[in-house]
Amino acid sequence: MLPEDAPARRDLLSLSSAILDPAEYGYIETPVFEDTELFARGVGESTDIVQKEMFTFDDMGGRSLTLRPEGTAPICRAYVEHGMHKRPQPVRLWYWGPYFRHEAPQAGRFRQFTQVGAEVLGSDDPAIDAEVIALLAEILQEAGARELRLRLSSLGTADTRREYSEELKKYLRERQDKLAPDVQARIDANPLRAFDSSDAGTQAVMKEAPTLLDRLAPDDAEHFGEVRGLLDAAGIGYEVDPALVRGLDYYTRTVFEFTSDALGAQSGVGGGGRYDGLVEQFGGPPTPGIGWAAGVERIVLAAGRDYGPVSAISVFVAVPKEERRRAGFQLWRRLRRSERSALMGEPGRSMKGQMKQADRVGARWTVIVEEEGFELKDMQSGEQRPVASEEELLEALK
Ligand code: HAM
Repeated sequence: MLPEDAPARRDLLSLSSAILDPAEYGYIETPVFEDTELFARGVGESTDIVQKEMFTFDDMGGRSLTLRPEGTAPICRAYVEHGMHKRPQPVRLWYWGPYFRHEAPQAGRFRQFTQVGAEVLGSDDPAIDAEVIALLAEILQEAGARELRLRLSSLGTADTRREYSEELKKYLRERQDKLAPDVQARIDANPLRAFDSSDAGTQAVMKEAPTLLDRLAPDDAEHFGEVRGLLDAAGIGYEVDPALVRGLDYYTRTVFEFTSDALGAQSGVGGGGRYDGLVEQFGGPPTPGIGWAAGVERIVLAAGRDYGPVSAISVFVAVPKEERRRAGFQLWRRLRRSERSALMGEPGRSMKGQMKQADRVGARWTVIVEEEGFELKDMQSGEQRPVASEEELLEALK
C-alpha cells in the first residue's frame, strides 16, 4: 500500500463507516493471529483455506498459531468469550483489517489483503439476511464498483446437506469416469466443489446433477423464499445460482456472492452467508448468525476511480539562508497550528531548488523568509509582495 493507493482505500473506509454505523453495527477488531484450531474447526478441515492456504507457525511455547485467513470464526470466538449473547440480540458488528492466505499471487489476489466485513449474531429472521445483503450492495454501489452481479442460493441445514451430499456422492461415483481427476479425488471430502470445476466434462455432468435447492426442508425453503421476496421488494437484482459454492464449511441456509465483470479471473468482490451452527461449535449457546466480507483491493480495482495527484500543499515556506532555519521552522509551526497544510524547504538547498519543490507539491502560496519579514508569492498569478510580520502574513493568507 503506497501513498498513491491511500485516497481510494480511505474513502472506502469512511464510506463503510458512514453506511454501517448508522445501521447500528458496532466496530470490532480481533487479533491478527489466533489458535490454529479455531480456523481448522471453524472454516473446515476439507476446505482449500485450511488444507493449503494458512500461514501457520509455532510460538515459543510450542502452541500452533495461524495468521487469520478470514474474520467470521474469530468473531464467533469473541462473541462467546466476551459473553455477547447476554447483550440485547441481535448483535451487529463490522470490521476492517488485514487477512492472510497462501495463494499464488495475481491481479486482485494477494497473500495479504484487506477485508471489510459485517456480521449479525442472534437472529434467524430472513429480514436480517436481506439487511446484510442490502448493506453490502449499498457499499459496493457507493464505492463505484462496476458491472456488479449478485448470486444467491441456500444451502439448507447441516442435515439436509448431509443427505444431499450422500445423494450427490452417489451421483458422482456413478459418473466418475467423466469427471476431472481433482474432482474425482474429492468426491468424498467435498462433492459440492464439483459444481465449481472449470473442466468441460465435469460441467456437463453437473448440469444434470440434483441441486441442493431442490432438496431443501420446507422451513428452509420458506426462509429462502422470504429472503428473495425482501430483495425483490427492495429492487435488489440477483440470480439464483444453485451451484454457488463458497469456500468455507460453516454456511447454512442463505449464501451470496457479488462479482464484478470489470475484474479478471478474481471477480469475487464480496460474499457471505448464514452460519447458524458456528457459535455453538465454539461453546456458545445456539445462536444463528449471518454476515459477509468484501475484498478492499478488489473493490478499489472494480471501481477504477482516478484520484489524481495526492493532495496539494497550501503554503510552502522557502528559507534562502541557513541562519534563517529557526525563523522558517517557527513559521511552519504556526501555519500548521492554524490548520494550514504547510511544508518547509531545506535551508541548505538553493532557492531555485526550493521553488521547484514548491511547484512540485502544488503549493498555492510560497512564503520566502527574509532577513526582515517575508515575501509572499501567489503561485497562481506569480505576483509577489513584502509582508512585515507573521500576523500580517496569517491575515493575508486568509
Ligand atoms: P471469502 O469469500 O473467502 O469469505 O472472502 C471474502 C472476500 O475477500 C472475497 O470476495 C474477496 O473479495 C476477498 N479475498 C479473499 N481472498 C483474497 C485474496 N487472496 N486476495 C484479495 N482478496 C481476497 C470470507 O472470508 C467469509 N469470512 C465471509 C463471511 C463473513 N461469511 C460470513 N460472514
